[in-house]
Amino acid sequence: VNPIAKELNATIARGNAHILEMLSGIGRELFFPKGILSQGAEAKQKAHRLNATIGIATEGAQIMCLPSVTGQMGAIPPVEALTYAPSFGVAALRQAWREEMVAKNPSLADRQVSLPVVTCGITHGVSVFAELWCDPGDGVVLPDMFWGNYNMIFNVRRGLHLWHYPLFGGSGRFNVEAFERRLREAAEGSGKVVALLNFPHNPTGYTVSEDEADAIVAVLGALAGEGIRVLAVTDDSYFGLFFEPQTLKESLFARLCGVDPRLLAVKLDGATKENFVWGLRVGFITYGCHVAGEAQPFYEALEKKSAGCIRGNISNASHLSQYLVMQAMQDPNYAREKQEKFEILRRRAARVREVLADEKYRDAWDVYPFNSGYFMCIRLKTVPAEGLRLHLLDRYGVGLIATGERDLRVAYSCLDESDIPELFDTVLQGVRDLEAAES
Ligand SMILES: Cc1ncc(COP(=O)(O)O)c(C=O)c1O
Repeated sequence: VNPIAKELNATIARGNAHILEMLSGIGRELFFPKGILSQGAEAKQKAHRLNATIGIATEGAQIMCLPSVTGQMGAIPPVEALTYAPSFGVAALRQAWREEMVAKNPSLADRQVSLPVVTCGITHGVSVFAELWCDPGDGVVLPDMFWGNYNMIFNVRRGLHLWHYPLFGGSGRFNVEAFERRLREAAEGSGKVVALLNFPHNPTGYTVSEDEADAIVAVLGALAGEGIRVLAVTDDSYFGLFFEPQTLKESLFARLCGVDPRLLAVKLDGATKENFVWGLRVGFITYGCHVAGEAQPFYEALEKKSAGCIRGNISNASHLSQYLVMQAMQDPNYAREKQEKFEILRRRAARVREVLADEKYRDAWDVYPFNSGYFMCIRLKTVPAEGLRLHLLDRYGVGLIATGERDLRVAYSCLDESDIPELFDTVLQGVRDLEAAES
């Protein structure tokens, strides 16, 4: 193990020895190299005559650039558009994102969390988490309906075992009993478990209510209290798009931080969906847990491990993207603009609910609970989802996602409100076509 990694491990152990035990084999070995970066920092301070340390090109005092590139950037200064970002992410953006996180999650006000480390979108955040904290054979507990890429990252790439539970119980609410059962099964033997919590949820568009959130936190806290090492990961990709009064309005992360010394809360979020900048690839990974003594060196050690993981993978996320997200967050119109888009999506969700209340759909499908995010799902009663999906595409030019044998996902995030009745009528017509073809 590299001496810098050893130092980081000792710092982590001083703050919370359980967290050190939770790191993966790679996680224990990871560190943030001092080499070029620290020599470059020294040169920045002292090399007043000639500084030949940086891995970019310059001309005079300017960054070297091609007008054919910078000509497309409008008012964005070339240095903001073209330079490297730190592996940790742009410092001012990390600060701003944490401040916004605390404002959006009032429960965080009296809890200490790390500074967010910038990832290349939330997918990369999931991947960094998996590399740093999970070893092959570890168990990840997630619902039966889930974002397919978790399988790619956790199972295919990292060799983890996925333990599924039915998301909804009989009453159409979060199935906390099944969740707990699966957690216990997954932790058996290893004494460690990863709980992946994704609200607003892809694909159903469901977010738990306050009391369901309390039950989830209680279950995870109880497991940790019994001696199980619990990694509670919240994928908050669709954070903020909560459309109903009874829906939890903050991240479970905020409630999980510091619940028990054996529980590490990890927040994965980003500008992707929240700020409608899917292709910019700006995500974040943030940690919260019980820390004995001073929290800052402990969290800095986790941030350095994460940045080391990023350094050895993509090196750093786009500076231009981080600049754009940061500038937007400082714009006086930012909050109002976000609220306007929220209202558009909220109205679409309400319209979907209104349209689906019509009796005529009753014998064709059931509607899964939804109250947030970009999506909703229906469960077909008489025809297979994949067959219907293909039929709707071929016959009517309508595209939906088949997420299971009987489940179809509708992304109303990309439908105009006025198109919603036509969409469901077309799906119903498709069902009738297939039923007629079978009889
Ligand atoms: C639940 C969930 N997590 C993560 C992502 C990926 O986000 P990003 O585009 O920032 O990688 C998505 C995107 O579809 C998602 O639905």
